[in-house]
Amino acid sequence: MFPFWPMVNSAWLFAILGNLLHTLGFQSLPIQPRVFILSMFEREASQWLDNPNLPSFYAHNLSIPGLSPVFPTIHCTEPSSKGTVCQATLGEGTINSALSLSAIVNSPQFDLRETYFLIAGVAGITPKVGTIGSVTFPRFAVQVSLNYELDSRDVPSELGWQTGFVPQGSTRPDEFPKTVYGTEVFELNDALRKLALDALVGTKLNDTQDAIMQRSRYQGGSGIFAVGAEPPSVLACDTATSDTFWSGGWLSDTFENTTRLFTRGEGYYCSSQQEDNALLEVFARAPQIDFSRILILRSGSNFDRPPEGGDAVDNLLYRRHGFVPALENVGIAGEVILRMILNGWEDVFKRGVLPTNHVGRVNMR
Ligand SMILES: *[C@@H]1O[C@H](CO)[C@@H](O)[C@H](O)[C@H]1NC(C)=O
Ligand SMILES: *[C@@H]1O[C@H](CO)[C@@H](O)[C@H](O)[C@H]1NC(C)=O
Ligand SMILES: *[C@@H]1O[C@H](CO)[C@@H](O)[C@H](O)[C@H]1NC(C)=O
Repeated sequence: MFPFWPMVNSAWLFAILGNLLHTLGFQSLPIQPRVFILSMFEREASQWLDNPNLPSFYAHNLSIPGLSPVFPTIHCTEPSSKGTVCQATLGEGTINSALSLSAIVNSPQFDLRETYFLIAGVAGITPKVGTIGSVTFPRFAVQVSLNYELDSRDVPSELGWQTGFVPQGSTRPDEFPKTVYGTEVFELNDALRKLALDALVGTKLNDTQDAIMQRSRYQGGSGIFAVGAEPPSVLACDTATSDTFWSGGWLSDTFENTTRLFTRGEGYYCSSQQEDNALLEVFARAPQIDFSRILILRSGSNFDRPPEGGDAVDNLLYRRHGFVPALENVGIAGEVILRMILNGWEDVFKRGVLPTNHVGRVNMR
């Protein structure tokens, strides 16, 4: 019936179809989002999708190959004079999140050359620097789990080691790693981060009675966790990536040290999460992405350790009382940042915020 059919390859077919749809007035692909919001799981996503103050994200539902089977749909707003905003839910952990994002950046359905990416999720937080409900913006993301590890019972106490984690290729916990994979440290645009912090001055964050009660447990003692007992705030401090969700002062101090060591003293650990270095490696491999347009927002959902004298198991299993304000504050602070970019598009953001620091992978060699 169609003798020429097998000779037409699919690329031609798509080109012909695309042109035809374009001629007929259908929206031409690819979509050029001004902002792309990246959530990890459903409750984070709903901060955007169910926010009645934002344009509906349900104007375009896109399925592309390679997304998480649990979250197979990307949602985008109707293109308007303010531009298009898209939201994707990537799945939790390094593997899910990296593969979902890789599918997005490699999809011909998107033109992402001018897109700002907002990684917006909840995290663990250290009471040395912040508290549950606080909103943090890192400059450094450090893959603290990329290490040798000994069980604590095998740690040679006679050498004075306080941890079983040893940087790869080194022979002591405090020695800079000699074997590096390239994903250990990423640096984000500090000038963009400053604009976000400035935009959030005066923003009222959410809080709950539950979170207030949990926080009060961090009062007193030696005072090292005094900040943990204060109300939530907006902070500039760095983030640690690990697939393992840890709890307790020993591991938290270990990874605080790892953050400082891997960044040669510049990194200031405050939050822990399971995706950021994975996502940043995806961006670093995508030449069309402008790495200086990436912003990470992480809000404190749980403390990384109990109060002084408290129980690490109890903290791990029964103290997630910051979850609600953390989610709410992803939405509250996220909306401020989204508006900052869309309202300032023509004047500032279209041409980009020039970084004054190195951005991208940090060379550890
Ligand atoms: C997108 O999906 C949502 C539900 O997931 C649905 O309510 C909406 O109608 C869809 N939009 C379009 C344009 O089909
Ligand atoms: C914080 O958000 C929760 C959940 O939506 C809400 O019940 C509570 O009233 C909010 N608190 C403040 C202080 O806005
Ligand atoms: C972290 O580093 C400090 C300073 O070098 C050291 O005293 C402390 O023992 C380290 N903590 C752990 C858990 O390794």
